[in-house]
Amino acid sequence: MNTVSFSAMADGTEADYRLLDELQQTHVDGLPDRILSALQGLTNSLDGYKIDRLQHSLQAATRAEADGMDIEWIVAALIHDIGDDLAPLNHSQLAAALIRPYVRAEVTWVVDMHGLFQMVYYAEFLGEDPNGHDAYKDHPFYESCVRFCQRWDQSSFDPDYPMQSLEHFAPMVREVFSRPAFDPKIIGELP
Ligand SMILES: [Fe+2]
Ligand SMILES: [Fe+2]
Repeated sequence: MNTVSFSAMADGTEADYRLLDELQQTHVDGLPDRILSALQGLTNSLDGYKIDRLQHSLQAATRAEADGMDIEWIVAALIHDIGDDLAPLNHSQLAAALIRPYVRAEVTWVVDMHGLFQMVYYAEFLGEDPNGHDAYKDHPFYESCVRFCQRWDQSSFDPDYPMQSLEHFAPMVREVFSRPAFDPKIIGELP
């Protein structure tokens, strides 16, 4: 296998960095496969619910699709808890960072904020503030995030709900995560 000539980056040549740039592109091309295996890995995450984290994710995406939402919302619902294992205390931000280069700003914002907005359903039982999301009441994406949590997230813990398989959503994951990254025509601008 082709490798670089250097042991410290400061000693690298143009040929070294052109080689790495090429390999980086191949690595980026493999992102959809890595997203799909990370989703598959959610079967072992977080005890206590009636269904596992992959089933919760599939159910959320199935509900978004059943509501007639577009591919960005469906994929967002599918990956919104993908950070549960590696970032248990800020999982929303991890998922938002993953999807940010590929979807419009509204979808990224909602994924980023869903953990805070979701607190309305349980925080009072733990002596925490259930209304932290009130701070964003005037934000243009506030209602979108309320809807995300209400329609697709908090409701998706039902073992009897007929959810679609990961294979069903795989082509959508491939489409979204193969888009040109950070394309202003796709992501737009945060208000
Ligand atoms: Fe979450
Ligand atoms: Fe969730």
